[in-house]
Amino acid sequence: MSNLADFRKDFDILNSGDYVYFDNAATAQRPNQVLDAVTQFYKTANANPLRGLYDWSMAATDAYENARKKVACFIGGVRPEEIIFTRNTTESLNLVAYSYGMDNVGEGDEIVITVMEHHSNLLPWQMVAKRNKAKLIFLEPDEEGVISKEEYQAKITDRTKIVALGHVSNVMGVTNPVKEIAEYAHKKGAVVVVDGAQSAPHMKVDVKDLGADFFAFSGHKMMAPMGIGVLYGRKELLENMQPFLTGGEMIEYVTREDATYAELPHKFEAGTVNAGDAVGLAAAIDYLEKVGFDAIREQEEKLTKRLLEGLSKLPYIKVYGSKDPSKHCGIVTFTMDGVHPHDMSSVLNDDHVCIRAGHHCAQPLMQFIGAGSTSRASVYFYNTEEEVDIFLEKLSKVREVMGYGA
Ligand code: ALA
Repeated sequence: MSNLADFRKDFDILNSGDYVYFDNAATAQRPNQVLDAVTQFYKTANANPLRGLYDWSMAATDAYENARKKVACFIGGVRPEEIIFTRNTTESLNLVAYSYGMDNVGEGDEIVITVMEHHSNLLPWQMVAKRNKAKLIFLEPDEEGVISKEEYQAKITDRTKIVALGHVSNVMGVTNPVKEIAEYAHKKGAVVVVDGAQSAPHMKVDVKDLGADFFAFSGHKMMAPMGIGVLYGRKELLENMQPFLTGGEMIEYVTREDATYAELPHKFEAGTVNAGDAVGLAAAIDYLEKVGFDAIREQEEKLTKRLLEGLSKLPYIKVYGSKDPSKHCGIVTFTMDGVHPHDMSSVLNDDHVCIRAGHHCAQPLMQFIGAGSTSRASVYFYNTEEEVDIFLEKLSKVREVMGYGA
């Protein structure tokens, strides 16, 4: 196993004080290697990519297209033209909803999603359903967050045109059985859209093996800069879709009244592209592969086990999701009797502990589990057991600070 303590040295922000950063599901921290790669790009190869016929522009184009090739390998060896760079998962999912959903879902058709979806994988489908008079159908999980075979087989039918689901829930941390759901959905003729925002940073993803027709994820949750995201789409589907955004560099030929569009992937990348952050994403992938997904999983499970054990000793805490640390993907969501999650988060912040509190952009799930909002601690491979102990110790003081007896 890699030496994780050595990797942690690469994160200045984690080593610059006494903060415990447990909000990795919201965004990860970046190692110096990623920051340096971005700086290096701007210092040595900055010019507008894909346009100029001079050295700097061509270097920028190479850097951008090499980043695309790296992403294509990273998610299982797909064709580079099947990788569309976007700003983030939200934009990737909106692209699918607007460019595929609007044209392929009609009146009376059904879109199946889960009640656990992040709003990013819910609101675009609400929009398609409303405009095209289609119906949204919700898969519901059991107490541990698991969607059963009976559940998805009952709700995915011949009327289903799209099944859109998160690979890993950003609240429960549960990994959905995407592969078996996709197999079933394909038999019914549906297209499968996967929100991989919470899986790509934590596990080896092979989109073809998963059966994803579209797979969306964000760079910033896997140590790349904010502002670069990815949409993988099956070439046959992307080729038949209209562009989502139109404008510069996504065209082949333009007249006053009309335009023909560029080949994939450029048809979907209007305007000046974010080459600097794509370079950062490539560096983040190199870094992730150096750490290794086995080491990442092992550390996350170790930390989650310690977290769950510690939380189980506090009688006023309720944890949501599985009791099995291997089923959390580093995410632990909980509530504390009598204390609002926002108050808890503020009190913990006074002790330099960072967690997320609120509805986690998953309000239908909050309604489903009967909690207005929750607190969420989410760890990554660079977190330590000492940090878990500090978190638990500070958490155990929160009720006292809020005026309850010790
Ligand atoms: N989607 C991010 C989260 O779950 C922001 O916190």
